[in-house]
Amino acid sequence: MDLRDRIIVALDVSNLKEVENLIPLLSPYVRCFKVGLQLLTSVGVPTVVKFIRDLGGKTFLDGKFCDIPNTVGEASAAASNFGVEMFNVHASAGIEAMVSAAKNKGNSKVLAVTVLTSIEENNAHLIFGSPSKAKVIQFARDAKIAGMDGIICSPQELEILGKQKELDSLLKITPGVRPKWSSTDDQKRIMTPGDAIAAGATAVVIGRPITKPPKEIGFPRDAVMLIQEEISEALGGQHG
Ligand code: C5P
Repeated sequence: MDLRDRIIVALDVSNLKEVENLIPLLSPYVRCFKVGLQLLTSVGVPTVVKFIRDLGGKTFLDGKFCDIPNTVGEASAAASNFGVEMFNVHASAGIEAMVSAAKNKGNSKVLAVTVLTSIEENNAHLIFGSPSKAKVIQFARDAKIAGMDGIICSPQELEILGKQKELDSLLKITPGVRPKWSSTDDQKRIMTPGDAIAAGATAVVIGRPITKPPKEIGFPRDAVMLIQEEISEALGGQHG
């Protein structure tokens, strides 16, 4: 796997100017850019996807669909028609909604969001009635049954997921990743980029440590280079 596909940058910004600044800087190190609710709501899906494509990037449409099966299916078909590399659906929408997404994914990859990495153990109990790890495994099994390409989970769940051989074929994309030199922000169940990849993450999603790096690190390009180096070391010195 190309080293550039190991990092997906979360473009949690509110306007296209910031996207236009970031993509050319980061493109030597990253191929896929995640656009989430902030940019999708401010600018709109078709505009954002076309804008990123014109700058040479691929899009991970982080729309986190969570609705009835028919609506999720129609939204998935629309996402796929825009030519996004990947998009996602909350596993909590249920197996039928995920089946509907998988049927309508076209050439895009569809991922199931398991338990948000910002949710602490106490809240996982309140929301799901079970520990986060147990819920993630159940959601991952549902995703596999439904025909999803992969899941989104915390890197802290990778070890236990790795023990479920039937889930081996699922892509495991992990946000909640923080280099040692960055602040944790609102993320709770976190790991460093190198550790996440070593634990079995297919790719890591990283936003603020790259888009708003601490002063001592420098600019977004410095941050992404450091993270790529760390990942390369975790993979035993692989180069991009
Ligand atoms: O800035 P940061 O690295 O925390 O960005 C992480 C990104 O991943 C955010 O865009 C967030 O919406 C997304 N995400 C997450 N946890 C999930 C699913 C998506 O943090 N479980």
